Amino acid sequence: MNSAIIKGMGYYVPSNVVTNDDLSKIMDTNDEWITERTGIKERRWINSKEESTSSMALEASKNAIADAKIDKAAIDFIIFATLSPDYYFPGPGVTLQKELGLDTIGALDVRNQCSGFVYALSIADQYIKTGMYENILVVGSEYHSGGLDKTTRGRGVSVIFGDGAGAAIVSKSPSADRGILSTHLHAQGEYAEELALIGPSTKRWVPEIFNGKGLEDEAIYPYMNGTFVFKHAVTRFPQVIGEALEKNGHQSTDIDLLIPHQANLRISQFVQKKMQLRDDQVFNNIQKYGNTTAASIPIALAEAKQAGKVKEGDLICLAAFGSGFTWASALIRW
Ligand code: UT7
Repeated sequence: MNSAIIKGMGYYVPSNVVTNDDLSKIMDTNDEWITERTGIKERRWINSKEESTSSMALEASKNAIADAKIDKAAIDFIIFATLSPDYYFPGPGVTLQKELGLDTIGALDVRNQCSGFVYALSIADQYIKTGMYENILVVGSEYHSGGLDKTTRGRGVSVIFGDGAGAAIVSKSPSADRGILSTHLHAQGEYAEELALIGPSTKRWVPEIFNGKGLEDEAIYPYMNGTFVFKHAVTRFPQVIGEALEKNGHQSTDIDLLIPHQANLRISQFVQKKMQLRDDQVFNNIQKYGNTTAASIPIALAEAKQAGKVKEGDLICLAAFGSGFTWASALIRW
């Protein structure tokens, strides 16, 4: 059976920086609260009509293709993870295929929120293993800022989320010693509504929302039971990382770099402590970008790689937790 490596990484974030002080001018919040509770100092929010979930994905993909040093025509398949697609349907995978100028290759959309990139990576891994494809473009991209409640009512959610995209070229490994060792996927649908955007949806179609209270209807904004999500996250992250280590006969001391989904710096620090990892074994960049959901792991991985923190032969662990609830991990011999 083949194994799959990540041959190239790329990311893209909008140029518009929004600091905590900027937010305090539009809602009742402050730098101290946001920094203390989340570690976030600033995030990128789209402020141009030209940018979208698929346009950011396009830029991230071009960077990943360049990093992988492959011809884009060698890409066999696209897997696109997002909770903020350009349209309700079709998903943005097909738009990315068109914008990249690729032939009629398949494009799959993944709806697993913060765990979306690891779920997508797991799918790519299976296709490479079986020999069905040789080069797969895996993307996570999110345009949150247009849909957040930026009043004091929505401050518990809106200060956390940022826009951005990350992409990976997942390819057939040239050597059996390198590649994705295993992926581990979990879900617990009983908590679906603890972190969700209920409307617009088929349960809450647009006319129903607008015939009612219109834009005042809270259903058009994401809802998060923050404390509840936090408690589950700090349990599930260590569990799913431990599962990946155990499956491959490793211990946490073997990890060269853990890239946790950038949900909250406090969650990452809690996980680091629980797993007894040193500072240099964990990569965080939430301070600059906020929580970019499906994009957070590929953005962080691309930055870490650029900074020389991900090298051939390293043991890299990716882990995520979020809406669904879903959680997932991947262990990679780079
Ligand atoms: O990526 C997907 C998964 N998501 C996560 O993992 C997020 C998990 N949850 C969290 O990170 C945290 O729960 C938050 C950062 C979202 C919130 O932190 P918290 O410590 O759970 O705060 P809280 O929601 O319990 O709110 C505490 C207080 C409240 O005021 P009172 O009722 O104590 O007077 C809130 O109204 O802080 C208030 N508050 C704010 N104050 C200033 C909530 N948001 C803000 C804000 N600025 N932005």
